[in-house]
Amino acid sequence: MREYLPLLIVGAAISILATSFIIAYALMKDKKEAIGFDRNVKDSEITKRLLKYAAPQWKSFLLVFFIMILSIGYDIVSPLIISGIADLIKAEFEMRDLFIRLGIYISILLVSLTCQYFQAIVLQKTGQRIISALRYDTFEHIEKLSHQQFSEIPVGKLVTRVTNDTNAVSMMFTNIFVNLAKNSLVIIGILIAMLILNLELTLMVLCFVPFIVIFSFIFRKFSRKAYRKVKDGTTDINTFLSENLSGMKITRVFDRKERKKAEFDKKNNDLGRAKRNQIFVFGIFRPTIYMLYISSVLALLYLAGRGYIYGLSFAGQVITADVLIAFYMYIQKFFNPIQTLAEQFNWLQSAFASAEKIFTILDIEPGVTDDEGAVDIGDIKGEIEFDHVWFAYKDENWILKDVSFKVGAGQTVALVGPTGAGKTTILSLLCRNYDIQKGRILIDGVDIRKFTISSLRRQFGQMLQTVFLFSGTIKSNIVLRDESLTDEEVWEACRYVNADKFISRLDDGLDHEVREFGNNFSAGQRQLISFARTVLYKPKIMILDEATANIDTETEQLIQDSLERIMNIGTMLIVAHRLSTIQHSDNIIVLADGQIAEQGTHEQLLEKRGRYYNLYTLQHRRQQLMS
Ligand SMILES: Nc1ncnc2c1ncn2[C@@H]1O[C@H](COP(=O)(O)OP(=O)(O)O)[C@@H](O)[C@H]1O
Ligand SMILES: [Mg+2]
Repeated sequence: MREYLPLLIVGAAISILATSFIIAYALMKDKKEAIGFDRNVKDSEITKRLLKYAAPQWKSFLLVFFIMILSIGYDIVSPLIISGIADLIKAEFEMRDLFIRLGIYISILLVSLTCQYFQAIVLQKTGQRIISALRYDTFEHIEKLSHQQFSEIPVGKLVTRVTNDTNAVSMMFTNIFVNLAKNSLVIIGILIAMLILNLELTLMVLCFVPFIVIFSFIFRKFSRKAYRKVKDGTTDINTFLSENLSGMKITRVFDRKERKKAEFDKKNNDLGRAKRNQIFVFGIFRPTIYMLYISSVLALLYLAGRGYIYGLSFAGQVITADVLIAFYMYIQKFFNPIQTLAEQFNWLQSAFASAEKIFTILDIEPGVTDDEGAVDIGDIKGEIEFDHVWFAYKDENWILKDVSFKVGAGQTVALVGPTGAGKTTILSLLCRNYDIQKGRILIDGVDIRKFTISSLRRQFGQMLQTVFLFSGTIKSNIVLRDESLTDEEVWEACRYVNADKFISRLDDGLDHEVREFGNNFSAGQRQLISFARTVLYKPKIMILDEATANIDTETEQLIQDSLERIMNIGTMLIVAHRLSTIQHSDNIIVLADGQIAEQGTHEQLLEKRGRYYNLYTLQHRRQQLMS
């Protein structure tokens, strides 16, 4: 038994270390901190859904698998060749033999490297195909969500789902799964090779495996917690940044720079601390595994050296120099993949968390969907009717109460009334941004729920309170859909709405750059661009919401002028605060508190001396005062 004493000492040292880790682990658990990624969807369910995306790529994965087996060959065969060379040197030395073996070694190495190269390429391509399918589905699904749902989910979150989370999932396919498979194969292959070479030494190596497993398991818990903190910190900082960069102007105006800076510093420090913590966890784990490795090498040298010197045999196997060398190399190749496996488990966890978030989005039922048997709307005249419409955004909190009105084809009808009366709501019900609870909305006498939503929305030209311009050029912002339109057609639309004057004053005209949200244009100019965008497609029904607010007098005149022309294109529903804008409408509907208070032409309503009359005289008098 004396001769095993050195081994016992090594074993005791490792056991002490293992015990202290386990104690640390138990202590950490006592704090009852939330570890793990809270998930509602089961892993098996996520795997199943992910496989659906991976399945069409099975040929690529099969190819990768074969390439992988080829490349693993190097890991398993190279120790045998090297140890063979050592054996050769000891016996009668033949240069030719040495060269042959070296040649074989180099060829196998080259094959392995080439395989790894192609494997990486095939995998990246496959991963990109999977991720773009996933991204496409996510984006398409998000587009189907209703306005209500959009106002409930923060936009930043949706962006993260489409970009970061799909990326994390693709990492799983291109990196994690493959490494898992590869490392498992390497471990199995090496074990088999070792068993064939020498049973005693293999058993010795196997004695270290439980420790590796324990350490890896504990490490996984610690690192998962550290990883989570880093992730939370990053999200925190991102949210803070996106909020504050877009609110930068306000921050400056209200002189809150110092306070914001302090807030940022704190978040920044938190993230730094989380990162350091993560590095610390890895800093403990890696040396520990290295220590295990060194211990096993020492044990190997001791056992094999003893066996070689005394010519001992175990289960009929004698230890030779080449066995010793081969084992020395195998041990290293054996420990590496185990360590990688443990470290990559985190990535797998986070990829699953990302996948779950994506699927949660994909599982949201769109609030407004096509009814069964919905048909394409086809060519319409543009008659609109609200037939006893009741609508609430939530529960029984009625915003519209029994609203009925008709708009003939080609007519212009104006909606007026105080803020919150429900004007914008009426407009957004028309294109089914929301569904009504009671009554009917008809276009050309047919309930709009009988039409497919996409064909319905194509009939509308919308000019809304806030004009949304995308970054790009003026032309791309006017054209939006049909890229094949010529500059001349776009100019024609611009001339029609008086947008040509300011555009032609710009050096590069239609190709002038539009920055994010159209920040480099005035409110009036943005409005004119949105007019051009609308009239370009000559929609049957036009919707205009308070477009004339916040505009200088000169531009207002231009807009007023172009509005009168736009009214001739088709049916128009217009909301305007300035009553002069809508004097010539065919019908003016005065809304109050979700109900129609009165309606008629400008003259009829003035004669009535009701709400409209009061509103009009008030505005009129104010205008006279100002001029
Ligand atoms: N997305 C929404 N969710 C819940 N309530 C809303 C929403 N949009 C508007 N409202 C409410 O509906 C009412 C009518 O709003 P709106 O149609 O925008 O009025 P108007 O355009 O006439 O000023 C207001 O009381 C407003 O608070
Ligand atoms: Mg409004």
